[in-house]
Amino acid sequence: MKKGIILAGGSGTRLDPLTRVVCKQLLPVYDKPMIYYPLSVLMLGDIREILIISTPQDLPKFSELLGNGSQLGINIEYAVQDEPRGLAEALIIGEDFLQEESCCLILGDNIFHGKLDFFREALKENSGATIFAKEVRDPERFGVVEFDSQGKVLSIEEKPDSPKSPYAIPGLYIFDNSAPARAKSLNPSKRGELEIADLIASYFTDGSLRAKTLSRGVTWLDTGTPDSLLEAANYIGTVQKQNAFQVSCIEEIAYERGFIDAIALAALAEVHPNREYANYLGLKARN
Ligand code: TTP
Repeated sequence: MKKGIILAGGSGTRLDPLTRVVCKQLLPVYDKPMIYYPLSVLMLGDIREILIISTPQDLPKFSELLGNGSQLGINIEYAVQDEPRGLAEALIIGEDFLQEESCCLILGDNIFHGKLDFFREALKENSGATIFAKEVRDPERFGVVEFDSQGKVLSIEEKPDSPKSPYAIPGLYIFDNSAPARAKSLNPSKRGELEIADLIASYFTDGSLRAKTLSRGVTWLDTGTPDSLLEAANYIGTVQKQNAFQVSCIEEIAYERGFIDAIALAALAEVHPNREYANYLGLKARN
């Protein structure tokens, strides 16, 4: 079974001063800390071994929030990234945790909502790397992937002026167990970072990179700017208010995926200080 890494460090400069004393991935997205959303994605993929990487200042706060994960029937470990030296460094920091297993890397500020079958399907692949492709209106803001009708990747470009396709690459990647070694062989880019685009390119060069499109049933939100953070909060708020369910309620997901039983869920409900949330969990435990 694959392991999961959530990369939750970085500088968060585009959200300053919001991020001056609280890191981005602990900021609220409607009614939950941002990290709940990528954590939910991993859990929904039945990934139960998870490493959270963050800055030396912020890491203890994640640990305070989520502990060792046992209350959710998962195992959460923590590792520091001293400086924001790039997304691909996650694979080097995570090498000991991975112990030669393949993994899924998700960025702590990426939200996926909707039908996640695409993710569970992609997790079944055991070799090479899988990236995802989402059609967007402004591909020049993202890494962009071009592929043929068979899903064979033709090119990858980072924030291109004239994108070759309308498909952005979201912050969700599946790598085989060669990723740490590949990451170690990368050179820092002009901005001094180990670029995820270069790691992906190394699989592309080998012909072992797959791109899978996200269907219309999946909403992908990035929360790196004040506007996108507000839009994400409004989106989650609207979905929750229009439906009788929670988005990214990690306790509910743990129960639904069979990581904890109804008794454990009821116990979590009992100690939850927010009565509305507690009632929701209690209801689930009784159903
Ligand atoms: P970015 O949004 O690219 O960078 P950032 O979060 O530092 O924000 P800004 O550009 O406003 O300064 O990072 C994407 C995700 O990866 C985000 O969750 C932060 C995380 N990250 C790290 O944990 N370490 C890193 O070295 C980098 C570059 C990002």
